[in-house]
Amino acid sequence: MLYGRDTERALIDRYLTHVREGRSGAMVLLGEPGIGKSSLLAHALDKADGMRVLHACGVESESELTFATLHQLLRPVLDRMGRLPAPQAGALEAALGLAPSGGDDRFLVAAGLLTLLGEAAEDRPVLCVVDDLQWADQPSADALGFAARRLEAEGVLLLIAAREAALSPSATEGLTVLPVAGLDAAAASTLLAEAAGPGLTPHVRDRLVAETRGNPLALVELPPLLTDQQLAGRVPLPDPLPVGAGTGRAFTAQVERLAPPVRKLLLLAAADDSADHKVLVRAAERLGLDLQAFDEAEKVNLLQVRSGTVAFRHPLVRSTVYQCATAVERRTAHRTLAAVLNGECEGDRRAWHLAAAALGPDEPVAAELERSAGRAEQRADHAAAATALERAAELSPDERARSRRLVAAADAAWLAGQVDRTRALLDGSAPPATASLAHARHAYVQGRLEVTSGAEEVGYRLLVEGAEAIASQHPEMAASMLLEATHGPWLASDLGRMSQIARRVARLPGEPSSRGAGLMQFATGAELFLAGDVGPAIAVMREVLGRAAASSDDRALIMAGVGALVCADDASALELATRAVTRARTRSLIGWLPLALMVLATVETLTGRYTAAVAGAREGLRLARETGQRFPIRQFESVLAFVAAVQGDEAGCRDHAGTALGVGVEPRMGPASGGAGWALALLDLGFGRPQQALERLLPVSGGGPGIGHPVMLLHSAGDLVEAAVRAEQPQVGRAALTGTRTTPGFASWAAETAQPWALAVAARCQALLAWSDSADPEPHFAKALRFHRHGGSRPFELARTELAYGEWLRRVRRRRSQARVHLRAALDVFDRLGATPWSERARLELRASGETARPRPAAVTLERLTPQELRVARLAAEGGSNRDIAARLFLSPRTVGYHLHNVFAKLGISSRTDLIRLDLDGPDQLASR
Ligand SMILES: Nc1ncnc2c1ncn2[C@@H]1O[C@H](COP(=O)(O)OP(=O)(O)OP(=O)(O)O)[C@@H](O)[C@H]1O
Ligand SMILES: [Mg+2]
Repeated sequence: MLYGRDTERALIDRYLTHVREGRSGAMVLLGEPGIGKSSLLAHALDKADGMRVLHACGVESESELTFATLHQLLRPVLDRMGRLPAPQAGALEAALGLAPSGGDDRFLVAAGLLTLLGEAAEDRPVLCVVDDLQWADQPSADALGFAARRLEAEGVLLLIAAREAALSPSATEGLTVLPVAGLDAAAASTLLAEAAGPGLTPHVRDRLVAETRGNPLALVELPPLLTDQQLAGRVPLPDPLPVGAGTGRAFTAQVERLAPPVRKLLLLAAADDSADHKVLVRAAERLGLDLQAFDEAEKVNLLQVRSGTVAFRHPLVRSTVYQCATAVERRTAHRTLAAVLNGECEGDRRAWHLAAAALGPDEPVAAELERSAGRAEQRADHAAAATALERAAELSPDERARSRRLVAAADAAWLAGQVDRTRALLDGSAPPATASLAHARHAYVQGRLEVTSGAEEVGYRLLVEGAEAIASQHPEMAASMLLEATHGPWLASDLGRMSQIARRVARLPGEPSSRGAGLMQFATGAELFLAGDVGPAIAVMREVLGRAAASSDDRALIMAGVGALVCADDASALELATRAVTRARTRSLIGWLPLALMVLATVETLTGRYTAAVAGAREGLRLARETGQRFPIRQFESVLAFVAAVQGDEAGCRDHAGTALGVGVEPRMGPASGGAGWALALLDLGFGRPQQALERLLPVSGGGPGIGHPVMLLHSAGDLVEAAVRAEQPQVGRAALTGTRTTPGFASWAAETAQPWALAVAARCQALLAWSDSADPEPHFAKALRFHRHGGSRPFELARTELAYGEWLRRVRRRRSQARVHLRAALDVFDRLGATPWSERARLELRASGETARPRPAAVTLERLTPQELRVARLAAEGGSNRDIAARLFLSPRTVGYHLHNVFAKLGISSRTDLIRLDLDGPDQLASR
């Protein structure tokens, strides 16, 4: 009988209705032990008539066993595995131990989970209940979180319960949380009265309700621990109460009363709740225990044996049993379990039991754990690998082996995105003093950690000095370290250090591999560019692009995307970044995906593909948080700020720019800060505040390392010139065009790149300067338009030129009808891009030029597609089935179908064939065609 909980029950009922209507939902119930989370889950299960129910429960002693929880959950629907896309099925089967592992991947597993849940809901809605998430193994918890964030239209309700304190805060990021607090006074009193019987007096009742803060478990467990005299208020209550804040202590007495064989059996079950009855029976027989003990344990209601699995009545019983045992007893239990776990796929479990049974350093056990870590790495489960390696290090008798394992653990922890843990592991290991590969590994892992967690210069020194020490014996390792070190100097536009790297890379002995050579050139090109030698820099970067086009190296591809921006080469940048993203998706290289998306979203922004850019940036932000790769966050925020600026979303722009520029996200990145500053300036410019725009852009251009970046400076130079001219400080604009001793001028850069958009913008800048000098700008405007039309890749810049030209024609020359031609052209593009403030300016100018009401183009009334819808539509137009699309975007096929349905409705079309006919790849926003 459930007392109280009206709000919670109503909420759960609403979710159930929702799911029966074909939508999906997910919710996490959070609260302290014994507060009633499982009871609310039971309520949901009661109400799940006609639904398919999947059920799993995290188990404390299994939390290191990869995918144990998922295995429990999915057991009833494994027969549908054949309907998953092959890579997802392969990864999921390997994860669940149903097939040999083929270096599978956690994200594929998660995507497989999502698809499988959707499949399970094919014929009836699914209720998925996961209790005690705090004890679920991390990979299962991650996969569940992943699925929960993406459930939309499958007909699946995912309810998760967890003890709040035992859960990492990131576990619930992006999920709906239902906090479960104590029962209200009325419900608590009723429950207590029921447990205590008629002798309970009101004041004792109120005191107990207050002391337990309505925790139902404590309320139920308390009365048997108190005497009748105490309950009746005749004898004072003990102080503190037998159950204080934590309810666990209530169980101790029950466990201590049990006969030794039953306690031994319970201890075995507590030490390894594989929940597998057979394993426990083997272990019990090995200890010579009478199997009668199972019945005893069931009789006192501590254990339940059901269909081959063994479960404790309450998780607190398990903790208590384990804690009540002596250290010797616990080691015996683990050793016994290890001895009976000898099957091939039980290696991981056995290794952990051996480790738990070990008294002190033990090399064979350490080696077995290290092998278990290797298997975890193969599954791309870096967190489990780190845990196994760390324990292996603790058990290593030899100091060098210990250090080596700790560094390997730190490396794995890093890949898993666990920054603090990486540091702790490194701190615990003593690097060998002499120059050796071991020393270099330590420096590498530590250097990489420092670079991306804020102490960039410390990391730089570690990497460079570490590389130096081993350069002669291990040049490949040294090259990797040096390339890792380019990160900071590039983002901070620090020429001195970039030159150092280029020089050291050049001195490495031996023939560089083709990969090394490509990356080596990047360092040289970056050095030249930062030095202001734009011509030679562009020549070198073009070679980097050429090599990257042939390379299968992901890092090279992403760096080449950056190189293409140095060359102003939008087409190559787009091509390279798209390839990097596609490859990361199809091969599930999630580690690379945020970085690749970062470059792609930036290029999409510059080329007016705003909807796609926003979709990419949002996905990137989500991934960056999910993988712990927080480093590209600022850049994604600056992309979002920029699009908001173009479209006149003042609040959104300030918000995103604030995050990009703010504190708390390391490292500081010149391109991101520069981009955010540019976004804010563009906002001012669009709303007619040129002075403010100029004030924002100037510090960026004059700022030191990390404040701005020459790449951003060059790409934004057109706006700086326009702001300067309109703020009546043309000399500032002129300086930006011609450059200074240290910064390249925009005009010469544009000429060196020979890219039409850049040449066009340079000509427009000349026109604006001529106008402010009262000279004749017309030849410059004409030249700008010629370049724009000759393969210009930036529609927003084109429209800006048309607008400026139209303004000049009307205001200075009074050639109104000619002005209108250009103003209309500008307005069309601005409308299509959703650049509201700029559309408004063009419209005002048109009106002033004598054009009467100019209706908005009819197509603009079409509802806009959301970024997610656009992505789905594009992949559908490429011919992908719902399943293909789902696999690529990590969504379920049903959700893809749902988005596609909306796309059809919004576009007024009825088939995929119609979709193919639309230009979904154009730089404009599809919705406002
Ligand atoms: N609303 C309620 N009315 C009556 N009894 C309740 C209520 N909620 C919980 N209980 C009882 O309190 C005890 C603890 O509840 P439950 O097991 O649901 O807590 P929990 O939050 O899941 O605890 P844990 O975190 O330890 O798993 C159970 O015996 C349950 O029957
Ligand atoms: Mg519970």
